[in-house]
Amino acid sequence: MLNLLIAVVVTILSLFYAYHSTVPQDRIIRDAYGQISVINQLDFNVIGAVNSFRDDPHHRYFNPTNHTTPFFQVFEDEFLDVIGSNPSLNVISFDPTFAFAHEAPVWVPDTDEIFFCSNAGGDLGRSDIGHNNQVAKLSMKEVAQAMAEGPVDVNVPQSVQMTNGGTGLYKGQILLTNEGRGDQPANLVLMNPYSPYNVSILLNHFYGRQFNSLNDVKVHSSGTIFFTDVPYGYYQHFKPKPQLPNQVYSFNPRTGAIRVVADQLDKPNGLAFARDYKTVYVADTGSLIGKFGHDLTLPATIQEFDVDPKTLAFKNRRVFAYADSGAPDGLGVDEFGNVYGACFDGVNVWNPSGTLIGKFFLGTKSANFAFAGKGRLVILAETKIYLAQIKAGGMSLMYG
Ligand SMILES: *[C@@H]1O[C@H](CO)[C@@H](O)[C@H](O)[C@H]1NC(C)=O
Ligand SMILES: *[C@@H]1O[C@H](CO)[C@@H](O)[C@H](O)[C@H]1NC(C)=O
Repeated sequence: MLNLLIAVVVTILSLFYAYHSTVPQDRIIRDAYGQISVINQLDFNVIGAVNSFRDDPHHRYFNPTNHTTPFFQVFEDEFLDVIGSNPSLNVISFDPTFAFAHEAPVWVPDTDEIFFCSNAGGDLGRSDIGHNNQVAKLSMKEVAQAMAEGPVDVNVPQSVQMTNGGTGLYKGQILLTNEGRGDQPANLVLMNPYSPYNVSILLNHFYGRQFNSLNDVKVHSSGTIFFTDVPYGYYQHFKPKPQLPNQVYSFNPRTGAIRVVADQLDKPNGLAFARDYKTVYVADTGSLIGKFGHDLTLPATIQEFDVDPKTLAFKNRRVFAYADSGAPDGLGVDEFGNVYGACFDGVNVWNPSGTLIGKFFLGTKSANFAFAGKGRLVILAETKIYLAQIKAGGMSLMYG
């Protein structure tokens, strides 16, 4: 009788658990914070109720379970391996009046600080043709400390104008791409990650011609530096008319050689190498035209290329993924080779074959993110910084 009673209770409990649990049983995943939503895509392949289509995809997101933001939206089980058990996703810094957390996130392991820049020329950016944007840092040592202290302006020198991209550490320094402002040129600089945050300018022209506005930067395993140039400074009213096509360049700091490695992209933006450096991903934010609005028929697409082993030029372009919300801006790769793209609903994650496996769903725009060691993903979201505590780590971006 007692056995029967126990069996009944166990059956009821397991039915209850199976009904309420949103995660598959074949992976040991726990959701202590109630932030995981597993989407069976077959349940949502047909919609059509009145007002259910996303005619404004930049502001209406695909959240068919109506899960409260922020959360982990899981499309494929592989994403459960990324987030692991009891993942959490929370705001660690917030200023509703200032888009202080836009781009150029670089983690400095020794001090456990993350550097980043504010929005250049956009909404709540406090920067325009007359005013530079800000490079700041946030201590990640203790989340509580990060929240209490907030970001600290590092007061970059005058040669750094409208920072938009960053990577590193490169030979112990932070590598920044700056868009320039007014007649002050775009440039590529090294910045000391310690006070007084002095910089050395590596490059500020293409054979005497000014760049449009340098956007993002990554370093190849050979030490060659790659960056994108796209006229967002012009689209955001702080740079003159573009004088060069929208292109991706390589710069060899040993020889000083500079060359174009990819063109024919609408607006090349974020870039990231695969873990073996034989493949590279380039985000094309063609649909986003700054203060001139957007055009949903233009690319919001990640393109994939082979990196030519001899010349390091980007060859054999093919589509990797198209984002359903905004456009992928900053790109990164995790330890499994998954490709992360900062989009208008948060950070979207595709497996190496280009299948969307999940999202760090914020319900607000992100332009970039960085891993701060294994298990910590720092997501810049303009007026907020989020910290995702997960299982995966990022691919190392250190060189030298
Ligand atoms: C989500 O919310 C929308 C609008 O309120 C509603 O039509 C829809 O049925 C909800 N979906 C779920 C799965 O709760
Ligand atoms: C900063 O200044 C120090 C001391 O002069 C110098 O050794 C270092 O190379 C500088 N760093 C950069 C990035 O310019």
